[in-house]
Amino acid sequence: MLFKNFFCVLGICSVAFFTASCSQKSIVTTAQPVALTQAQLQPIVIQGALPVESEKMASYLSNVEIETVGGWKFWKGTYKGYPVIISKTRMGMSNSAAATAIAIEKYQPIAIINQGTSGGHDPKLQVFDIVLGKESTNIGAFRTPKKPLGGGSNALTWTEAFDVLPDDEQDPEPIAIRKFTADQTLLKAAQEISSKYTKGKVVEGTIGSADVWNNELDRIKFFHQTYGTSVEEMEAASVAQIAAQYKVPFLGIRIVSNNITNNGAYNPATGEACQEYVLDVVEHYMKAQQASLK
Ligand code: 5AD
Repeated sequence: MLFKNFFCVLGICSVAFFTASCSQKSIVTTAQPVALTQAQLQPIVIQGALPVESEKMASYLSNVEIETVGGWKFWKGTYKGYPVIISKTRMGMSNSAAATAIAIEKYQPIAIINQGTSGGHDPKLQVFDIVLGKESTNIGAFRTPKKPLGGGSNALTWTEAFDVLPDDEQDPEPIAIRKFTADQTLLKAAQEISSKYTKGKVVEGTIGSADVWNNELDRIKFFHQTYGTSVEEMEAASVAQIAAQYKVPFLGIRIVSNNITNNGAYNPATGEACQEYVLDVVEHYMKAQQASLK
């Protein structure tokens, strides 16, 4: 564990200071940081659900080792010298949560980026535009109104969001829209290189996630107005929820691959475009991390 090694190095420095200070009967507890090389940083995990959302990034890695845990594949390698793990999470909330927990336990990442395709909720977003998720939120958890047998069902009346990670664990029916905030350092890194992206615009927004592909325009409008969603997909909020519990910095980055609010037809080439942008974000972020630890 490189991160642990780093602290061992710090520990050795402290002991050395302690020993040197013994004759003066004082204990020096200030560790002297040791400059890290690129490869000594903890790895960053970049996730993609589908092969078209992960394999391009994996092909750019050097020194690759493939590791498979259960049904989840990880490419462990370096990108421009920085340690990177590409994770193919497979689709949906459960798969992405499991892949996230495994990655955190196995690799102790410095940060996690969940990226990939998405459907537009904001009519101003065109196919190939990229949304930096300043917030991610679950749009598949509700407490529905009570209706009798034969009373039908109307999802537009489901106005009570169900918070699956309530502050009060005793509350069996917590009603709130929970939003997971992006790590500000990751978000800043993603903003700082946004001018490098030429296939569309890069905006900040809210990513809505659920195991649902919504094609009802009234429902999409409801989410856009009530939850403030820019796009929908099936993983980011789930990953954010797990990362939050482990206190690992997280950012969702989603490219618009389809947008039925403005007739934006699905374009599968968006998957690769997003991966290339995210690799630029990763290089920029890791460079800053390395500099800050020197
Ligand atoms: N709705 C839901 N998921 C979408 N995805 C792309 N567009 C949409 C959309 N409009 C992503 C999901 C999932 C796969 C179906 O593609 O994140 O991984």
